[in-house]
Amino acid sequence: MPFPIQAFLIALLFSSIIASAAIVEHVFNVEDVVVKPLCQEQMIPSVNRSLPGPTINVREGDTLVVHVINNSTYNITIHWHGVFQRNSPWMDGANMITQCPIQPGYNFTYRFDITGQEGTLLWHAHVVNLRATLHGAIIIRPRSGRPYPFPKPYKEVPIIFAQWWNVDLAVLQLRPAPIADAFLINGLAGNTYSCSKNRMYNLKVVQGKTYLLRIINAALNTHLFFKIANHNVTVVAIDAAYTTPYVSDVMILTPGQTVDALLTADQPIGLYYMTISAYISAHPIVPVPTDRTINGLIVYEGAALNTSPAKTTMPEGMNQISTAHRFSSNITSLVGGPHWTPVPRHVDEKMFITMGLGLDPCPLGTKCIGPLDQRYAGSLNNRTFAIPQTLSLQEAYFYNISGIYTDDFPNQPPLKFDYTNFEVSGDNEYKMLFPERKTSVKKLKFNSTVELIVQNTGIITSESHPMHLHGFNFYVLGYGFGNYDPINDARKLNLVNPQMRNTVGVPPGGWVVLRFIANNPGAWMFHCHMDAHLPYGIIMAFIVQNGPTPETSLQPPPSNLPQCTRDPNIYESPTTNVDLSY
Ligand code: C2O
Repeated sequence: MPFPIQAFLIALLFSSIIASAAIVEHVFNVEDVVVKPLCQEQMIPSVNRSLPGPTINVREGDTLVVHVINNSTYNITIHWHGVFQRNSPWMDGANMITQCPIQPGYNFTYRFDITGQEGTLLWHAHVVNLRATLHGAIIIRPRSGRPYPFPKPYKEVPIIFAQWWNVDLAVLQLRPAPIADAFLINGLAGNTYSCSKNRMYNLKVVQGKTYLLRIINAALNTHLFFKIANHNVTVVAIDAAYTTPYVSDVMILTPGQTVDALLTADQPIGLYYMTISAYISAHPIVPVPTDRTINGLIVYEGAALNTSPAKTTMPEGMNQISTAHRFSSNITSLVGGPHWTPVPRHVDEKMFITMGLGLDPCPLGTKCIGPLDQRYAGSLNNRTFAIPQTLSLQEAYFYNISGIYTDDFPNQPPLKFDYTNFEVSGDNEYKMLFPERKTSVKKLKFNSTVELIVQNTGIITSESHPMHLHGFNFYVLGYGFGNYDPINDARKLNLVNPQMRNTVGVPPGGWVVLRFIANNPGAWMFHCHMDAHLPYGIIMAFIVQNGPTPETSLQPPPSNLPQCTRDPNIYESPTTNVDLSY
């Protein structure tokens, strides 16, 4: 019998009442605090005196309001990593792209809706390397009355990885950044270090129950493997987009990525380590952050606490690349699931973007220790991005102020070459070694479908770079090694159930093909999420132009948007003129 339309309307009305969106409000008090995760005390900027910072819990459709009060000594912005910011591009929190920073003693209120995505994301500071300690979880649950597309877990647990240095963050500004002293799981360094061995993250479980782990890699510079001894997990979402359930014993997360995974306590009652270890894809020039593994513990209810926990075996050596590739490339989106949308078949704008390292001429009067006595740079299509210094990119665009950026970011590199086996054999290659430093953006028509083929190069070295797009999820149509083949590789792209995400690890010596719909007017960064590569300039920005209506157009900034009235680089200028930088 057909469902009567009246009943449908009543049901709709009812569901919209029970599913009515809420306003979720937080105060983020940014202040310096002394912590001691290892043996020594260290002053760090924190949100509400906690590391990691507070978890934000919302339901899809809610409005989030966060009052950021800057009582620290640093310039601050907070970025809501992975949040679409539909019609709220001024709230993206990208320093000098969508706003000038909130200066010490000032405050700013971020206000935006969270719609069209469910799962786990993170918030973090987006000014130099402050996200080392200014970060936390954003958990987006379904609207009330709507279930998860998987069995309801018994409990949900945020698990946040971070990288820790026993030095002031300003010292970390030196290039190269010093090697990290530890990794942290939910703020704790665990039994790898004598001073922290009694401070290990513990997850208490009940045998037979299922837990939803909401895993976030908030480390500045390191991809991390994550494994739980003797247990498999089932991945159900990545970057707040549901996936086909994917069973694995090991996970890999690049900086900025998240994984939602179900863990069933299906082993004999006991103690089991959960372990993170670094994935090092750059051999051999990049200093290894640390080869140590960090443990947390799964404690079954009823377990004898004096027994030794079951150990994990972590991927090592070349095995790392194949393990990382298998996990990253095998995940698919949950076709027909909440917020799933099919891949657009027609492409309006196709870009081929080479990505990797390069060199920047050593500033006069300084000594650089990189190859050819220069310092390292990074580039996209042979452009090194210079972050605007006096006005945010989005304000410059909105007010039509010239001199801040150019809109000539190219659709391909200036030279075709053997990207992954780079050799300098003449002037042209030499130019590819020294990218051009400027603030150039790519303008996109409203609602256009954009395809990005991101080709990792072997210039200097090959390394996995996690490319993150602000304001959108992209479909990852394919991952591969070597130079992208526009005929044979294009044939193998997944147009059926590709993963949807905001951060993708481009394989070392390989490529990815991404597609997204430019349906959100504003200025959006696309950059490597290894923090050390931001000053190198592995960044570009898209400006999505206005659509036909006011609702699809960039609105004026909020009247209290922070102004660049002081030196925006208060904290960014090098503290020494011996540039150790490379
Ligand atoms: Cu999570 Cu532009 O960053």
